Amino acid sequence: MQCASARYFLQTYGCQMNENDSEKIAGMLESLGYFEAESPDEADLIILNTCCVRRNAERKVYGRIGQFKRLKERNPDLLIAVCGCMVQQESELSVLRDRYPYVDLVFGTHNLHRLPELLRQVQAGGTRVIEVWESEGEVIEGLPIKHKPGFQAWITVMYGCNNFCSYCIVPYVRGRERSRPRESILEEVRKLVGEGFSEFTLLGQNVNSYGKDLPGDYDFASLMRDVSEIDGVKRLRFTTSHPKDMSERLIDVIAEGENICEHIHLPLQAGSNSVLERMNRRYTREDYLRLIDKIRERIPSCAITTDLIVGFPGETREDFDDTLDMVKRVRFDSAFTFAYSPRVGTPAASMQDQVPKDERMERLYELIEVQNSISKEKNQEMLGQVVEVLIEGPSKTNPTKHQGRTRTNKIVTFDPTEDLAIGSPALVRITEAKTWTLEGELVPDGEAHSDAGAISRHQG
Ligand code: SAH
Ligand code: SF4
Ligand code: F3S
Repeated sequence: MQCASARYFLQTYGCQMNENDSEKIAGMLESLGYFEAESPDEADLIILNTCCVRRNAERKVYGRIGQFKRLKERNPDLLIAVCGCMVQQESELSVLRDRYPYVDLVFGTHNLHRLPELLRQVQAGGTRVIEVWESEGEVIEGLPIKHKPGFQAWITVMYGCNNFCSYCIVPYVRGRERSRPRESILEEVRKLVGEGFSEFTLLGQNVNSYGKDLPGDYDFASLMRDVSEIDGVKRLRFTTSHPKDMSERLIDVIAEGENICEHIHLPLQAGSNSVLERMNRRYTREDYLRLIDKIRERIPSCAITTDLIVGFPGETREDFDDTLDMVKRVRFDSAFTFAYSPRVGTPAASMQDQVPKDERMERLYELIEVQNSISKEKNQEMLGQVVEVLIEGPSKTNPTKHQGRTRTNKIVTFDPTEDLAIGSPALVRITEAKTWTLEGELVPDGEAHSDAGAISRHQG
């Protein structure tokens, strides 16, 4: 075993579920006596928790591992570990094995809980340990978790994905859908409320499938309702919903839950029906528009965000125009936009008519421009409104300001005052609206009262 003051440096790539896995890795390491290091140079153990959803994500990881070679030469006792989605692919695992001999430990997404034992093996044996399970085992409960400081916590409610969208690697590296027992989830939220957390985001690749693999008919809508009823939960969010199975009950639960935030992330991916079909998304643009109508009818102020892929194999200019058309019709609050990236082993990677890289990039820039102007217009509609934010602390982009998030998940920056604690609610009047951020000024308590009508839950 490493000495008690050993330090770890953990870097995470990819989605919030990977971030939540990293919180478990940190939890396990700290219960072994490790402390967090500020930088890789100070660490005795470096862990990279990787993503492979697009080639770019993998490139970043290899670049980073390359930088650690020098550290390892300087300090041969340094341990380097690589885990997460990327190593679940046979191709990347062999690259790591063959070309990065100084990586000491490799483990996958299905055996994360084995980290303490695997570390012990590396230290005892003085040799590298590579253990990647091909398929998922039981859902493991009760791992220690080191949540990020603050008041916001992520709770993974289900693992894996059964959808097999034809471009996506996630089902191959994360395995089949597995739901956590509801009691474990509710218990975790209660415990975190006791520790001072008040804003929760329920996570899953496909949250609408929650419960389908458990006995009984308890579903995601019921879970949202039950979590929202726990005392001390000030705000509840969730991600991600697949448009093909977002239920009306879930929309009702969101509309009715006072502390459930008015924000739905609903990945559209493409606007053309033929592309959607080849993506195996199992909805049409008409289905999607009907769903948006239902959401806006029940929750008029709901922010809707999305994911979009351009340059899917066979995507014609007309298909791409359909995506632009959907973006203009729906008017998303914001969108994550991606150029299609072929992933080995997925059906789309071997489809005919791959769109050339420069065309994919041109479409991406065109899409970003259209979406950006919509995002900005949507933000400008908020000028003058008074919205409730929960104080998050110094702004990530401008440290002289503080930031908070609206219920609709928009970041607002404002001049800090000393009396506002992190996590406490504050009212802010929007004074400037940009594409990505809103600026505002805190509204003093007394004034806020007279504005109370304007901050009904449907405005933030
Ligand atoms: N489970 C979520 C998100 C999965 S990954 C969902 O279904 O919405 C996040 C996003 O990455 C996807 O929504 C998709 O837009 C994008 N993505 C996935 N595979 C991709 C690929 N091969 N190329 C480009 N973007 C991809
Ligand atoms: Fe990937 Fe589709 Fe599953 Fe999302 S729903 S993780 S895009 S396969
Ligand atoms: Fe990436 Fe794995 Fe998440 S591939 S997007 S980290 S599930």
